[in-house]
Amino acid sequence: MFRISNFIRELDHPTPPGPHRNAPGPVVIWNLIRRCNLTCKHCYSISADTDFPGELSTAEVFGVMDDLKAFSVPVLILSGGEPLLRPDIFEIGRHAKKMGFYVGLSSNGTLIGESNIDRIDEIGFDYVGVSLDGIGATHDRFRRLEGAFDASMRGIRLCAARGIKVGVRYTMTEDNAADLPALLRLVEDEGIDKFYFSHLNYAGRGNKHRGDDAHHRTTREAMDLLFDTCLALHRRGIDKEFVTGNNDADGVYMYHWVARRFPECAEHIRAKLLQWGGNASGVNVANIDNLGVVHPDTMWWHVPLGNVRERPFSEIWSDLSNPLMAGLKRHPRLLGGRCGKCKFLAVCNGSSRVRAQQITGDPWVEDPACYLSDEEIGVTAADYGSERVKTTPFVPRRRPA
Ligand SMILES: C[S@@+](CC[C@H](N)C(=O)[O-])C[C@H]1O[C@@H](n2cnc3c(N)ncnc32)[C@H](O)[C@@H]1O
Ligand code: SF4
Repeated sequence: MFRISNFIRELDHPTPPGPHRNAPGPVVIWNLIRRCNLTCKHCYSISADTDFPGELSTAEVFGVMDDLKAFSVPVLILSGGEPLLRPDIFEIGRHAKKMGFYVGLSSNGTLIGESNIDRIDEIGFDYVGVSLDGIGATHDRFRRLEGAFDASMRGIRLCAARGIKVGVRYTMTEDNAADLPALLRLVEDEGIDKFYFSHLNYAGRGNKHRGDDAHHRTTREAMDLLFDTCLALHRRGIDKEFVTGNNDADGVYMYHWVARRFPECAEHIRAKLLQWGGNASGVNVANIDNLGVVHPDTMWWHVPLGNVRERPFSEIWSDLSNPLMAGLKRHPRLLGGRCGKCKFLAVCNGSSRVRAQQITGDPWVEDPACYLSDEEIGVTAADYGSERVKTTPFVPRRRPA
């Protein structure tokens, strides 16, 4: 996760860079239920409106929380499927808050209504994130339900009216990229606290539809717009959070954006980016799925590390016998192709390894979604030559002119 707004703030109010530090325990994204009232085209959990047997009971969830607390996990993001379809979601949320976790609710927003907003408010969720993948019909097509946009907007407005911190989460592909400017306007007009921009990751239905992924040029334009918007709002005294996920090359892209626009700040931003350190899957971000299986992050459901019913999360997370976990935790990661030669590897840490693995079977080759030019990563084709990922024709590899 790349926090754009933190770096934008550094342009006007620099703070001293410190060493890269790992948090005491990972942030845990917990898919408590796989059932969902939507069937989004890109959904990594391949959710649908059907029962998935064998999910953790309330008592099992509480037991796992004790272990997470003892392991210094600071943050729980309660997700799904659609978490509001779990009858005990409020009980779980209340318990998590009582235990002192920072608790986020990750919802499609369509089921937030007059009938449950009091209970949502009363839990005291630290953050409610609602997905909006476009405006109106674009969102409805992406999420495959007519009326979904209006229902999600109702949910967002109900949260905002109660003063609950609410954010919009948007996953960009070529299909909905044109809606980004309008979404950013909506975030400002509606007084929404946070905008989370997610790059498509090649997991679940998102892998099946990876041919829809944004072209590199589209991604670069989106980043320029995000940085410009965040800066403009900040300078107008409106400090919203802007965050990206699933492509840590964004940090390197920001360095070049700063070097062009504010050259006097470039070295400071580079130091801050090194302190951040890029992709944290398997290190500071963890996932537990609906059946209690632990994964390095939400996009690795095809790699099981162990089940919390059989071993505590703390033991599973610390076990390096799985080669993927050992490789993710290794610093610096051992990577091939352009990533291996990149002069900014210490900034992005090789980004998400999922796309490389899904395309080639090898998680350590270059990320095909790195949209930076050779010049921007300080390499020439001769440096990586034969180590290129052999991309399939549907994977966009358009380089900037
Ligand atoms: C799996 S959903 C669960 C919570 C809720 N149902 C929702 O849609 O917000 C969590 C978030 O992951 C995003 N997501 C799902 N599949 C993805 C993929 N393949 N790549 C990137 N983001 C994805 C969704 O858009 C959503 O914002
Ligand atoms: S992305 Fe969220 S709303 Fe869409 S199908 Fe998956 S779990 Fe449901």
